[in-house]
Amino acid sequence: MCGIVGYTGSLAAAPFLIEGLRKLEYRGYDSAGVAINGEGGLQVVRRKGKVAALAQSVKSMDLNGTCGIGHTRWATHGKPSEVNAHPHTSCDGKIAVVHNGIIENFAELREKLEDAGHTFASATDTEVIAHLVEEAYMGDLLSAVRTATERIHGAYGLAVTCENEPGVIIVTRKDSPIVVGQGETGAYVASDMIAVLEYTRDIVVMADGQFAKLTPAGVEFFDMYGKPVQPEITHIDWDVDTAEKGGYPDFMLKEIHEQPRVIRDTLAGRMVGGHLSIDELDMTTEELNLIERVTIIACGTSYHAGLVAQKLIEHWARIPTTVSVASEFRYDDPIITPTTLVVAVSQSGETADTLAAIRDARVKGAKVFGITNVIGSPVARESDGVIYTKANKEIAVASTKSFLGQVVSLTLLAMLLAQAKGRMRSNEIRALFRQLAETAQQVEEILSDTTAIDEAAVACKDAASALFIGRGMGAATSYEGALKLKEISYLHAEAYAAGEMKHGPIALISDGFPVIAIATKGPVYDKVVSNLQEARARGAKIVVVATEGDEDIKAHADHVIYIPKVNDYFIPITASVPLQLFARAIALLRGCDVDQPRNLAKSVTVE
Ligand code: M6R
Repeated sequence: MCGIVGYTGSLAAAPFLIEGLRKLEYRGYDSAGVAINGEGGLQVVRRKGKVAALAQSVKSMDLNGTCGIGHTRWATHGKPSEVNAHPHTSCDGKIAVVHNGIIENFAELREKLEDAGHTFASATDTEVIAHLVEEAYMGDLLSAVRTATERIHGAYGLAVTCENEPGVIIVTRKDSPIVVGQGETGAYVASDMIAVLEYTRDIVVMADGQFAKLTPAGVEFFDMYGKPVQPEITHIDWDVDTAEKGGYPDFMLKEIHEQPRVIRDTLAGRMVGGHLSIDELDMTTEELNLIERVTIIACGTSYHAGLVAQKLIEHWARIPTTVSVASEFRYDDPIITPTTLVVAVSQSGETADTLAAIRDARVKGAKVFGITNVIGSPVARESDGVIYTKANKEIAVASTKSFLGQVVSLTLLAMLLAQAKGRMRSNEIRALFRQLAETAQQVEEILSDTTAIDEAAVACKDAASALFIGRGMGAATSYEGALKLKEISYLHAEAYAAGEMKHGPIALISDGFPVIAIATKGPVYDKVVSNLQEARARGAKIVVVATEGDEDIKAHADHVIYIPKVNDYFIPITASVPLQLFARAIALLRGCDVDQPRNLAKSVTVE
């Protein structure tokens, strides 16, 4: 949930560290710091607040060493403050540590270390690592870090440097991501490859329990026993501009506009000779045909993509499907058998609850498919098969393009299961695939004129609360619409299947209360219109997402946002786009930071 970076080489370290932290700020932004291991010894600078505050301080200092580590924090243990910011140091100030994750036994370790004479400066769990390394240090930092990690329980991505070994950084990980790369002028480490892609495209996604020693001469890798190992190198060909706003005012808008490309890339190469194929899943048609039950596990927006998939799989493949919030799944007693296919959906691929749920499912004998956006992420590594959504790096904390990537990938999976079960003929699959591909163009049309969306946002911006409603595919879409609005604008929003209104939520409605409805032409259109009338009769301000050409709907709404006509099963793909733009417009009108909403971070690597 934090971002870490490190560099050692022939250039000054500070500029890379600050730039790298800026790119990783989506992982946490309550404080930041760097430690430079230069000729003058270890220099540590930490600041409360965003990376910009740290950058300002660093600019006025003489930090010219060529080796250093850095950190941007999302607080878990200890409030956001300068003293709790990383890097944390040993008692003698010679060892500095940055950490992403949680040390579960830190209280017990801290007590032991204090009894042994160590003095702690912060309230963090991380500081124990600096003291453990100090205790174990006998002149070899790699061996000291290995010894220290034997005593800690929990999740960690670590980078450690020591004044006695200038130019050396030791890194290791367990359940928290770390990538390492070697460029022309030095070696790099980061929590996310986005920070290093400008310097090298050949990346090592480190495995759990692996260690790396970075020096200006290169990188050596070791297993947990200290034996040298040859790592697997992944070549990344993403556009480095992913980490830049590319002329857009914020990452969220840029990422919303990338969605037509995401749809096209996700579908590319999937229809071969009239046959749908997802080779990465590595399952034959016969094996797919044996699946008797599907369980989808995910959190947040990814859970909403799962709700969409449930409807598609049950409708097309007729396989009973459940969707579970991963944090509940792991403590429930779900029915998982060897004929259950578990589908884990996670943009980051590192959500702690989703990972724990994957492990539980595998213990119960299920086959697990991961759907993730991050190459080599824990979800990808721990699943039997993986579909990568083609969203590329998503930086805004609110998921937009990754949601569409997930929905399109899950739609393909539903079609694949229907194909394997013989529930859909190949001409039906081909027709559906064509309609699915057309959504890219339809999203482009929605993005080309946002006037109605902006007007609706102005009308709703001062509300204290809002309701999102829909039925069928529209219900799943409205859950995501409500989440977008509340997370970036801090305007309270709830979503309900529209038929549920009369069972409670309608009591909320009084004059001017915003109700945002998905009322597109489809099997439940008339039912939704009845629900709109009920809300309107009680004074609600109605905003509808409706099908182009539907003039009648105007009689039931204060604001109409038209979208092109699509197959009802693809409504979540197209109708979620105006809802993303609506949430963003309201957030901006309310003066909120749409890319970095308060209290949140992009990935939730703690339980
Ligand atoms: O990386 P994941 O997809 O596993 O993340 C799950 C949620 O934390 C995430 O979808 C979150 O709800 C979104 N950022 C909301 O926009």
